[in-house]
Amino acid sequence: AAIGARLPVTDARGNMVVDIGGGTSEIAVISLGGIVSARSLRVAGDEMNEDIIRYCRDEFNLLIGEKSAEDIKIAIGSAYPLKEQLKCSVRGRDLVSGLPKETIVNDEQIREAISRSIRIIVNNIKTVIEETPPELLSDIMQRGIILAGGGGLIRGLDKLVANQTEMPVRMMEDPLTAVVRGVGIVLEDLESLKDVLVEDQREKSFK
Ligand SMILES: Nc1ncnc2c1ncn2[C@@H]1O[C@H](COP(=O)(O)OP(=O)(O)OP(=O)(O)O)[C@@H](O)[C@H]1O
Ligand SMILES: [Mg+2]
Repeated sequence: AAIGARLPVTDARGNMVVDIGGGTSEIAVISLGGIVSARSLRVAGDEMNEDIIRYCRDEFNLLIGEKSAEDIKIAIGSAYPLKEQLKCSVRGRDLVSGLPKETIVNDEQIREAISRSIRIIVNNIKTVIEETPPELLSDIMQRGIILAGGGGLIRGLDKLVANQTEMPVRMMEDPLTAVVRGVGIVLEDLESLKDVLVEDQREKSFK
């Protein structure tokens, strides 16, 4: 994703990219073409869909499909309180009667539903920042953390991350296709880049 965003990844300054995809979130600080500090998590967009499915089951006795959960997430999902309330309808099966049921959910409920996943991502961003040498941090403070991937489009995630890290946050333009442009090279394939990591960082990053 960093290459997709045309960041100068081979220069000596630090860049931080947070790529939230479907299956994985990859958080990395890159300098001189190598990974200085990174985390790869299995908490990303798909897990947020699962969160929404669980929430509807627990709160409304409503069984919904994964596609419905994703539609709700994209329509009204947020990581930070919104200025105006958003609502949408959810359709599924009533777990008590077994019959179809429709209910209305709002942004606050969905924010609550996905809050655990969001918290895990934000905490790992903080950890990666903590592991970053101060001179690279000052570059990142200037350039901003770059949010990429479809999951990075959740409303207000940029604001929440900026708030929690005290760093500026930029959305990569066109995050969905930018990731495609940068495929495989830096972030999509953290595992194969183990070699660029020094021993003790490797231990921490790939447990
Ligand atoms: N507007 C949006 N708001 C919130 N989430 C979105 C939005 N658009 C797409 N997504 C989510 O982004 C995720 C897909 O992102 P992306 O295309 O970057 O993943 P990927 O690169 O295919 O997955 P991975 O990197 O895990 O292999 C899906 O979970 C999708 O629901
Ligand atoms: Mg991806």
